[in-house]
Amino acid sequence: MKSLSLTIFGITSNLAQIKLIPALYDMAEKDLLPKNLSIVGNARSPMTKEEFQSYLKRVLLSPNIHHTHVIKDEVVATLLSKFHYIDGNLDDPTFYPKLNDFLKSLNSANKIFYLATYPDLYHHIFENLQRVGLNKQDKGYVRLMIEKPIGNDLKSAQDLNNLLLTYFEEDQIYRLDHYLGKETLQNILTFRFSNGVFEPLINSDYIDHIQITASEDFGIGNRGGYFDMVGSLKDVGQNHQLQMLSFATMDAPSEFTNEAVTKERIKILQNPKPIPEKVVFGQYEGYKQEKNVDLNSNTDTFYAFKTFINNERFKDVPIYIRAGKKMAQTATEISIIFKNPKNRLLKNMEFAGQPNALIYRIQPNEGIVLKILTKVPGHEVKLQPEYMQYCYRSIPGSHYIPDPYEKLIIDTIMGDQTFFNDSKEVEAQWAFIDPYFAKASQSKPFIYKAGSWGPKEADELLAEDGKVWLEPSMDFCRI
Ligand code: BG6
Repeated sequence: MKSLSLTIFGITSNLAQIKLIPALYDMAEKDLLPKNLSIVGNARSPMTKEEFQSYLKRVLLSPNIHHTHVIKDEVVATLLSKFHYIDGNLDDPTFYPKLNDFLKSLNSANKIFYLATYPDLYHHIFENLQRVGLNKQDKGYVRLMIEKPIGNDLKSAQDLNNLLLTYFEEDQIYRLDHYLGKETLQNILTFRFSNGVFEPLINSDYIDHIQITASEDFGIGNRGGYFDMVGSLKDVGQNHQLQMLSFATMDAPSEFTNEAVTKERIKILQNPKPIPEKVVFGQYEGYKQEKNVDLNSNTDTFYAFKTFINNERFKDVPIYIRAGKKMAQTATEISIIFKNPKNRLLKNMEFAGQPNALIYRIQPNEGIVLKILTKVPGHEVKLQPEYMQYCYRSIPGSHYIPDPYEKLIIDTIMGDQTFFNDSKEVEAQWAFIDPYFAKASQSKPFIYKAGSWGPKEADELLAEDGKVWLEPSMDFCRI
């Protein structure tokens, strides 16, 4: 196998610290780092080899809610032996010949460039990589990993996609939405398309409505500078949540290839029509006092909206999507709520009328569960709601769920773009979100209490349709 270099532009960024370096550690621990891999970190300030190594160790040993593993010295040593450091400003053309020489000295034929850096540096990076020939795939492959958000609206996403395609081919561009790398999201496809019993029920004959929730019980932390410019809808709605919708509702791909899976995802993403009058924006109390946030900010830290998928299968099935920061609980899930049976035999009993629900719990208490009504064992006829559950963490040997970044780095090395976004997909997501966002810019968000489920207007959005938000249950798949 040809030697490979993974160059991370922005090795001191928040993303590198909380996600990339820990993911590389996990790969080292499981012996998944290719033998001939060199990892090249880049940032602006000069660092000696020793300083860089102690930076990496510090990152791994710092508390990280996304990476709570025990850090083993021998794994750190293996990982560090792969790492190199090169300083340089990404907007300085004289940096790139230096980088080129450095990669040549490593004999790396295959090259991956990871852009963990500010989007306003992208054009400098693309132009200068081309200038020194680092976008050319003559001796091996060249791949670019680029994080969401791709653009800030449809127009800027189209501009960025055009810019990317000026310097790279589509099969070199790995646009990351880390939700696509989540085991729990990928398993929705396996679950739906390899079990015969559920898929026949996934249509408007049986489904009453669908809810998608991504709630976090923490605020924006020290990301105020970024978050205040973006807001929740663009931060997670345009990407993660629309992808959750596509996984839960797309048709079966003809085969499990990048082309076939992406084609089905795009069909869903291009389908729903925005209904801008059915959106509620919220902001948590105290948000304006967060670091690097404008004191008069109208940025949304919560949103809830309604939409429909206009195809035969989901005709007239309302879909409600919400996400927020500083909410009552951290939980990400998709709930498919079924219609009640017509007979309603036990209709006057407690719990009767509680619908069946198929819940894909993305995190925490990861699992796939079916909420059902059963009879309480005994002489009386009494109902109780129960969960039939598949829980990731309780299956011997499969309690370990790989981090999405680990999976996506491996996919990039293997040249598999199935769980990356192509340009059409990203543009469809913006085309859908832009009209809701236009609505946000005309009004102020409703203020909600930290630790709540968002503003009451979000409840009213469902109440108008005679529905209520399902509170994510922590009763199933507890570790
Ligand atoms: C990121 C957003 O893309 O996703 C964050 O920028 C959000 O604001 C995060 O908290 C959620 O990811 P996860 O994997 O923790 O659900």
